Amino acid sequence: MGGLTRLIVFISMFASITLMSEAQYLLPIVKHEPSKQYYTAFDIGSAEKSYATLVLDLETNLTWLNCRELKSLSSLRLITCQSSTCKSIPGSGCDGKYCLYRQPNPLGKPVTGRVVQDKATFSTTDGGRQLSEVSLPRFTFSCATQGLSLPIAGVLGLSPAGEFPFWRQVTRAFNVIPKFALCLPSSVFDVGHFYVGGVNGYIIPPFTGSSNPIPMNLTPLKNIESGKYIISPTSIYVDGVPLSLNPSLLEGGAKLSTVVTYTVLQTDIYNALASAFTLKAKEIGMSEVPGMPEFPGFTPFKTCFEEGSSRRDVEEFMNVPVIEIGLPGRAGEVKWKFHGANTVVRVLETVICLAFADGGKKPTEPMVIGTHQLQDYMIEFDLSTTRMAFSDSLLSHKTSCSAWPSRRQDHSHMML
Ligand SMILES: *[C@@H]1O[C@H](CO)[C@@H](O)[C@H](O)[C@H]1NC(C)=O
Repeated sequence: MGGLTRLIVFISMFASITLMSEAQYLLPIVKHEPSKQYYTAFDIGSAEKSYATLVLDLETNLTWLNCRELKSLSSLRLITCQSSTCKSIPGSGCDGKYCLYRQPNPLGKPVTGRVVQDKATFSTTDGGRQLSEVSLPRFTFSCATQGLSLPIAGVLGLSPAGEFPFWRQVTRAFNVIPKFALCLPSSVFDVGHFYVGGVNGYIIPPFTGSSNPIPMNLTPLKNIESGKYIISPTSIYVDGVPLSLNPSLLEGGAKLSTVVTYTVLQTDIYNALASAFTLKAKEIGMSEVPGMPEFPGFTPFKTCFEEGSSRRDVEEFMNVPVIEIGLPGRAGEVKWKFHGANTVVRVLETVICLAFADGGKKPTEPMVIGTHQLQDYMIEFDLSTTRMAFSDSLLSHKTSCSAWPSRRQDHSHMML
């Protein structure tokens, strides 16, 4: 090896140890109906187009899928019980020789699977477009014998805990900032954004990333060792008026969920929100109608209205009271503001319902913020600072999570 080559090898080794890479990755997000689940897809294994479609779950620690859905299993490597990988998965088991892992399934019965590794391939980005493919040579996940209902093969682990959530494996392997961001599309016909790592920012027209960034607010994440993303609401407002709530009700915080559709609130919080919302709704000409227990979603809606004179033609700007969640920010309270598209759901031509669910008197979590509320917001989880950033509703900037820079990349394989 010549002197110069040796110098270059040395410098690049040195650089890879000391410098965080600025690379950023971008995967698509698609909404599935009727389940209203959000999934992404990327290639697993060495075969061409052997992609796996996986539900995004903020509480799953280790990605799992029905490996029979993969085109080729030839490059899968089983992990032995003695391996350091197996030993670093808390709660892993052993079937004599190979590593096993049993975990809760956000959409059904717990799943047990063999822990395996294979190549995962997805795309880099400049913040806007998908650029070129990169591969994580040893992506660790588990092969369960069951799947979810097709086209979904399994669940992508995005929890904040442990060594194996997808974002952690990617950011560690490529030496990038441990963070990821989700922008969930509201329509099943469109494709949203799932970013991992990166400093390029988020280019969603008309926002151009660094020179014209999407405005975001920061709030701390608490207790991430629990394996959940929890923020700490201090108050809830309807049209600027705070609900009078016993402060102890909010102490448990609010969990973010990408699998729950409608935000679930402990009964007292739900009732306070529903009555404040109803009061304001009546002031603008809406009239209360019986709830919709038989609505063919999964959640019975308890608080519904005939729109009357408040009806507007543009759905995004449904004229309904504004709901805000007050959160600790850098300098005092920041408010996360929700407009009609995220607070109500249309069940009949002229009837809308409050898109929140009553979780009962003593739920495990007093608040679980679901995807009907999260869609069309940019939500960033930064594990280097343990903070979450949230944008305004992109709809209020006349854009959405489905907006892409003009040269639209090929998502054809996502349109299942
Ligand atoms: C994820 O890991 C954390 C920390 O080990 C644990 O508390 C939690 O129960 C795990 N969650 C799941 C869904 O396995």
